[in-house]
Amino acid sequence: MDTEQSRQEGVLPGGYSYINSAAASPPPQQVVDAMVDYLQKTVDVGPYLPAFRSEVYRKIDETREKAGRFLGADASEIAFVKNGTEGINFVANGLSWKEGDEIILADIEFHSNFTPWLKLKDKEKVTLKIIETDRSGVIDVQQIEKEITDQTKLITVSHLPNASGALQKIERICNVARKHQVLTLINASQTLGLIPINVKELDCDFLTGCGRKWLRGPEGSGLLYVRKSLVESIEPTITGWGGTDWDFETNEYRYIPTAKRLEAGCPIVPSILGLNAAIDYAQGIGVESIRKKVEALTRYAVAQLSSIQGISIYGPEDIENRLAIIPFNVAGLHPDEITNYLEDHKVIIESGTFMANKLLQQYGIDKMARLSPHYFNTEEDIDLVISLIKSLQKKKKN
Ligand SMILES: Cc1ncc(COP(=O)(O)O)c(C=O)c1O
Repeated sequence: MDTEQSRQEGVLPGGYSYINSAAASPPPQQVVDAMVDYLQKTVDVGPYLPAFRSEVYRKIDETREKAGRFLGADASEIAFVKNGTEGINFVANGLSWKEGDEIILADIEFHSNFTPWLKLKDKEKVTLKIIETDRSGVIDVQQIEKEITDQTKLITVSHLPNASGALQKIERICNVARKHQVLTLINASQTLGLIPINVKELDCDFLTGCGRKWLRGPEGSGLLYVRKSLVESIEPTITGWGGTDWDFETNEYRYIPTAKRLEAGCPIVPSILGLNAAIDYAQGIGVESIRKKVEALTRYAVAQLSSIQGISIYGPEDIENRLAIIPFNVAGLHPDEITNYLEDHKVIIESGTFMANKLLQQYGIDKMARLSPHYFNTEEDIDLVISLIKSLQKKKKN
């Protein structure tokens, strides 16, 4: 992808430089077109014109095949979910648990990869083993291995936490888990579309993520991979048509033998079709090229931000451990002040707590600003952020 194409994509038609893909990315026009075309046809011919409806179902099947190839999985191992949170919950609620089963997770996990396990602790009396991380936010794989016992059933980890930008060593974590026959759930909400993922090479058992962030898919889209040999052990959270076979005469029912068992009810057609277009778009660029571009921009941004007087950058100090997400504060400026000033100058970043309680506590802060550039951003975008922050500093001094 060349710089000119990035520049054109990075500045939105509304004139904004958008540097907040960790929250959600602006979708490419093709993604919106796929959804709008479908919705328009529902206006023009009605959603259930037989030929149209069968074409829609064919496209949904095609999307499942495509999503499978995208993740290195079989289509039968893919469920569409509405977001990353749903994918995590489907695994947490779908596996069968007994008292004393252990789940390993880290203290920096995002809300949606924490509360489903807290619920299991309360409901099923499982034990949570919470790994402590240092200020870098990088999970120590050896520490995980030390916590594994005969009772350990699952390790769950976010590939890239939304607040610290600490890229976790999921290959090594999956390796350790496999060695001890422990299940793994990878929350790839912040890496789908950003880093090439092959679930078979990774050898994980479950992987989920939303479509709306780095993949540039629509809100309300996401994927859940379930290893084929485990599909039958996942009890669907919701039951009904599409996910269950029901014998009306005997009232016997059984869940279908593919991951689609998790998707009972009417599919979210627009978001699935949008996701289809988003996968095509990302693959057209190449996810490895995307990762490389974002890696370079991350390095550039960290180096340039360091030139701001009074800046504190949170998360990994070693750039090798960081990708795409750069949280920071500037002494004397409230993070909201920074984001508001940038917004006034048509640059979008975000400030907040990012629900990162542990990180906020470790650094003794309440809030932070966060820059999260995607491949469509440029060094000029980063330079603009830095010069705006410097001009805000000057303005405040005068
Ligand atoms: C690390 C991480 N995990 C999970 C999620 C949840 O994804 P969703 O909002 O699609 O449910 C997010 C969303 O911000 C996230 O950043």
